[in-house]
Amino acid sequence: MTEATKVASDGTAPLARVRDLSVVFPARRGKPPVTAVDRVSFDIEPGQTLGLVGQSGSGKTTTGRAVLQLQKAHSGSVRLLGEELIGMSSSRLRRMRRHMQFVLQNPYSSLHPRMTIAQTLAEPLRVHRSVPSSRIRERVEELLELVSMDPAVMHRYPHEFSGGQRQRIVIARALAVNPDFVVCDEPVSALDVRTQAQIVALLQSLQEKLGLSYLFIAHDLAIVREVAHNVAVMFGGRIVERGSVAQVYDDPQHPYTRMLLDAVPIPDPTIQRERLRAAPPDLDFAGPEEDGPCRFGEDHRRTGTAPFHVDGDGHGVSCRSWPLG
Ligand SMILES: Nc1ncnc2c1ncn2[C@@H]1O[C@H](COP(=O)(O)OP(=O)(O)OP(=O)(O)O)[C@@H](O)[C@H]1O
Ligand SMILES: [Mg+2]
Repeated sequence: MTEATKVASDGTAPLARVRDLSVVFPARRGKPPVTAVDRVSFDIEPGQTLGLVGQSGSGKTTTGRAVLQLQKAHSGSVRLLGEELIGMSSSRLRRMRRHMQFVLQNPYSSLHPRMTIAQTLAEPLRVHRSVPSSRIRERVEELLELVSMDPAVMHRYPHEFSGGQRQRIVIARALAVNPDFVVCDEPVSALDVRTQAQIVALLQSLQEKLGLSYLFIAHDLAIVREVAHNVAVMFGGRIVERGSVAQVYDDPQHPYTRMLLDAVPIPDPTIQRERLRAAPPDLDFAGPEEDGPCRFGEDHRRTGTAPFHVDGDGHGVSCRSWPLG
């Protein structure tokens, strides 16, 4: 057992601990720099799910990529299993990669069309040398069974499967190296409602069986309520509210959270996405950092603290990004 896994199994530290994470995309073609992620902080406990919600462009994917070190962070800290990932040497980071995996929205584009399922699932096993070559086939069978697929399909190609089956294969590939943490970025958005429910149930049962932690990014608030233990709401690169599912859904504090929850969910993911893209239509938001005390009486410019306030029960809310007036 490595030092890293000891920390987690003791239950003394969160599995993932993100502090003041920022990502800035540099100015390009006359456009100013974009702070896509602005001092984001959260913890994810072992075996738990943090849901990340917010409208299109709010910075959810960039946050997930920066946590996994697929996107360079401008500043902040990301600790996984007690180890700081930001600034880690590339050889150590390569070794940490087997602990953290990514499941993306579109299961077709994330599978190589000319690789069989067996080849797809064997690749990470070879890269991370997680099993001896003689055991690869056996492990591929195990992985397919884990996602409730018949191991006999291993010699087929991605186009021979439905969207839901392809997403099962993508999940199996992510699990090949026995990760502790999986970032699921809109894992069911491209699927029909019935298939969505099956994949959500699969992710939940895998979490129970394997003790996985998820960062679950989604537009669909109903799905997040179902799968997440905690939830964070993003707007304009910031987390404007976070807490347990009960705190955020039953007692939302930030006007943006309320607005999201007030909107009647539309089952069609495309329409829902379009609507969230358009929202909020008429909110005028306060500037990034104002002088003087915030609505909670703290002058963040003076103290240098993030404009975020967490109460004794762990329910946090931003004092910025409230509508003006
Ligand atoms: N490679 C990049 N270069 C410049 N800007 C980028 C880049 N990637 C993302 N952005 C910008 O960063 C912001 C956050 O984008 P991001 O993709 O993280 O949002 P999102 O919440 O995942 O949106 P969606 O719900 O549509 O997936 C957006 O303003 C986007 O235009
Ligand atoms: Mg995204």
